[in-house]
Amino acid sequence: MPLKEEAILKSPDEIEIMRAACLIVAEVLGIVKDSVKPGATTLDLERIAEEETMKRDAKPAFKGYRGYPFCLCTSINSEVVHGMPSKRALKSGDILSIDFGVRYNGFYGDSAITVPVGGVSDDAARLIEVTKASLEAAIEKAVPGNRLTDISSAVQRLVESHGFSVVREFVGHGIGRELHEPPQVPNFGLPGRGIRLKPGMVLAIEPMINMGGSAVRVLDDGWTAVTVDGSLSAHFEHTVAVTSDGPYVLSRI
Ligand code: MF3
Ligand code: CO
Repeated sequence: MPLKEEAILKSPDEIEIMRAACLIVAEVLGIVKDSVKPGATTLDLERIAEEETMKRDAKPAFKGYRGYPFCLCTSINSEVVHGMPSKRALKSGDILSIDFGVRYNGFYGDSAITVPVGGVSDDAARLIEVTKASLEAAIEKAVPGNRLTDISSAVQRLVESHGFSVVREFVGHGIGRELHEPPQVPNFGLPGRGIRLKPGMVLAIEPMINMGGSAVRVLDDGWTAVTVDGSLSAHFEHTVAVTSDGPYVLSRI
């Protein structure tokens, strides 16, 4: 991650290429989501994602990124992000975060969802809803003239008002010809700080929210981040272009 926080601006034509990449991400995520059920393994989902990506002539963004071996990140229950597909079968009551990205025509798209497996507890359902709502609140702030941390503080305010906590160690990011571009997009902080948002900026906004404390640690596999207190965690992400017409959610169908 470059230290400079200057965003790399995209032209309207480049944004439309990113839109195409993000639509592939959204389609594949939708197909994977429809395959989530008790008894399915996360490796089953990985195979579906890989096949559907190939059909669309896109390249999985995560596979090979810093040595990450899969197309999907599949994070179950207290896993926060970067869970790896495995032979572990999903069971009713689990919550599953699915993070997916592609490269297409030289540009990246990135999105994540958290879905219930079968029937989940009211608390788990509420965590999913609040995390999704925090992403929507953040997206509303992605308009020219606002500052970067207006996005961050919108997430934190909503999440903490519901008694949940924001993960600090992982953040959103600029996105374009690289999966991770400046600026970093934290999900916490005071409003009115950081760079001023301009048309042509494209941000991957991705709140990671824990039911309990905010602390996370990475397992010995070197990837899987889990909550320290074992509480559930949810994650939603969209790739969003800042335009003079307002936020353009590239990864929304
Ligand atoms: N959405 C995550 C991110 O942008 C996914 C990265 S997973 C990795 O950081 F394997 F590519 F690292
Ligand atoms: Co991302």
